[in-house]
Amino acid sequence: MDATTGSTVRTAGLVRQFRAGTERLTAVDGVSLEIAAGSVVALTGPSGSGKSTLLYLVGAIEQADSGTVTVDDVEITGLRRAALARYRQRVGFVFQRYHLLPALTVLDNVIAPVLPRRGRSDQVNRARELLDAVGLAGRERSLPAQLSGGQQQRVAIARALMGEPRLLLADEPTGNLDSTNGGQILDLLLSLRDRHGMTILLATHERAIAARCDRLIRLGDGRVVEDVDLTDGEDPAETYDRVARLRL
Ligand SMILES: Nc1ncnc2c1ncn2[C@@H]1O[C@H](COP(=O)(O)OP(=O)(O)O)[C@@H](O)[C@H]1O
Ligand SMILES: [Mg+2]
Repeated sequence: MDATTGSTVRTAGLVRQFRAGTERLTAVDGVSLEIAAGSVVALTGPSGSGKSTLLYLVGAIEQADSGTVTVDDVEITGLRRAALARYRQRVGFVFQRYHLLPALTVLDNVIAPVLPRRGRSDQVNRARELLDAVGLAGRERSLPAQLSGGQQQRVAIARALMGEPRLLLADEPTGNLDSTNGGQILDLLLSLRDRHGMTILLATHERAIAARCDRLIRLGDGRVVEDVDLTDGEDPAETYDRVARLRL
């Protein structure tokens, strides 16, 4: 894989509302954050607290009603369509339900996002390297249904890496997995950060996952209600105990 460094992400006064019947529901309510390049940040909070919406705003899948998202000094919220499309191609997305195409092989699923670009043999070589890096060498010709949930999520991660992202957004990536497989997916994400300095923002409900991240940001009703640095020199067991005392 190519050497990269992670993106710095800033949000300022970010707001996103939805219409719920005649009411307006504020899913993200004035979120201002600065996320350091190469950090792995757990986004926690109860269902409906705005985790997914915040990830989609940072990834420019959703549009903000007000406030800004700035990635590496480029204000994403001010970009026009073409520049926005280029930005999205450079962000990796991983979802809880993998979102693989069931009729395509593992290899073709990984290539799918970059199909219009580059020569096919370049793409195949890169996809093979990525599948090797996520521990799936030899499974290129399998169909998604022939793989376990953990393996399918590895395919989704390989696919997310095709665009050489400096920022990876993961929406409950271990939410469908048991703790062993979930732990292995987190091992993989942390190793990607260690090798490439990638910045990773991941929504999770799980303490064991959050405790292994560098920082925990908890949302409540679309606002940041807790922001904890987990890197300050404690051993993993102490960090786990500390996270165990927090509400998630
Ligand atoms: N596309 C949408 N249309 C209407 N309401 C939405 C939409 N997406 C999210 N919401 C609402 O915004 C709030 C935050 O949702 P979400 O960001 O999915 O939270 P989380 O990921 O923490 O569960 C919820 O009340 C949800 O119902
Ligand atoms: Mg969600």
